Amino acid sequence: MQTTIIDYGMNAEGIARENNFVYFIPYALNGEIVEIEVEKQLKNYAFAKLKSIIVPSNNRISPRCPYFYECGGCSLQHMNYIEQLNYKSLLVKKTIKKITNLDCVVQNTIACDQIFNYRNKASFNFFMQISGFYKHKSNDIVNIDACLLVNNDINNVYSLFLKYLSENQEIRKHIKNLVVRIINNQILVAIVSKEYFECKSFYNILNLNYKNVGVFLIVNKRKDSVVLSGKCIHISGIKQIKVQNYNINYDIDILSFHQTNIYIQNKIYDKVLDYVNKEDIVINAFSGAGLLSAIISQKAKYVYGVEIEKSSHLNAEQLIKKNNIKNVKNILGDFNKKFKTIKDKADLIILDPSKKGCGKDIMQQIIGINSIIYISCNPIALSKDLQFIKNIYIIEDIIPFDMFPNTNNVETLVKLKLKENKNDIEH
Ligand SMILES: C[S@@+](CC[C@H](N)C(=O)[O-])C[C@H]1O[C@@H](n2cnc3c(N)ncnc32)[C@H](O)[C@@H]1O
Repeated sequence: MQTTIIDYGMNAEGIARENNFVYFIPYALNGEIVEIEVEKQLKNYAFAKLKSIIVPSNNRISPRCPYFYECGGCSLQHMNYIEQLNYKSLLVKKTIKKITNLDCVVQNTIACDQIFNYRNKASFNFFMQISGFYKHKSNDIVNIDACLLVNNDINNVYSLFLKYLSENQEIRKHIKNLVVRIINNQILVAIVSKEYFECKSFYNILNLNYKNVGVFLIVNKRKDSVVLSGKCIHISGIKQIKVQNYNINYDIDILSFHQTNIYIQNKIYDKVLDYVNKEDIVINAFSGAGLLSAIISQKAKYVYGVEIEKSSHLNAEQLIKKNNIKNVKNILGDFNKKFKTIKDKADLIILDPSKKGCGKDIMQQIIGINSIIYISCNPIALSKDLQFIKNIYIIEDIIPFDMFPNTNNVETLVKLKLKENKNDIEH
């Protein structure tokens, strides 16, 4: 069947409409005339395969990665970068509209200067003789040699590990993941294995190639997909990565949270800083390894950071000691429980939750704080959370940031202000 693509869906698939029937077509671009074949038909819509492109979009480009159509790691390499950015702004706008019914102005997506090799961390999955990333919406692994989104040295460590396994076949069946993090030429590697094994020899191989490298073995016996869990044993080499950013010195562990794209991280932090006032007492909920709290402390009166994960909290504590920062208090624990101890003091709260968002309990608890900055990696969870407070706060700014070029993910910063006049509050 021949049709014209008129829009994009939530996963960047092309949308076509014929006789009030909607078709979702992966890899079709807006404006293209295409030949499709229906694969799965439901009551009002169908999923279809792109058979051929009759009139291509000017925004279509050839994906650079040979695994692109199979691997679930990225999904936009067939779009030029301008179209990716436009798509992401529209995605945020449409998702907020769909869930909250608010017609918001969404700014243009802030571009990333580097759209390949930008990731400073990767986690490769292993199963039998296969290793790489999951297929789209599947637990099957696509066997890959390298990934174009990650730093080149991460690919190099991965290929040295594959060679090491090929020479030590008896180990291979135990391996679940290889996690590699690199910042400023310092590399931390975690081998996640079902069983303990002697892996100093792999460190020795890495050490021939890299000066600052450290290897950990994580013995993870879990049956689910959680990677960084279980006993973490330091095998050899450096234990932490030392970073300097915003004139702050800090150290990162392999287990701690750290943004994977520092280029965009700093653009987001700069924007957050614009919203902070000199007299503000700020709560930085979900504060990770504490860098953002420290940056804000350079401008605000006082900052409370709340983080549930111990390794990140300890890095945040180390950071404030190392930099002699006196106006930050790091609190270890669940934000939902810790919030009541600090809530009366705050002028501004920063919410930067993980993918599932904050949820109703947290959103209702924070009502009353004058300003909110919500940083989200999931437009659906963000919109659901905005729905809980949309009548009490005014949305002043919505800015998408391209933290993950060539993928369907977008990071969004939303600035909200408490409505001043009680009459403004809609019920
Ligand atoms: C997206 S990261 C944000 C980190 C930080 N804002 C940054 O820019 O580096 C989310 C963080 O929230 C933490 N977290 C998740 N659930 C939490 C909870 N209930 N209470 C406090 N922290 C939580 C995670 O461990 C993670 O470090």
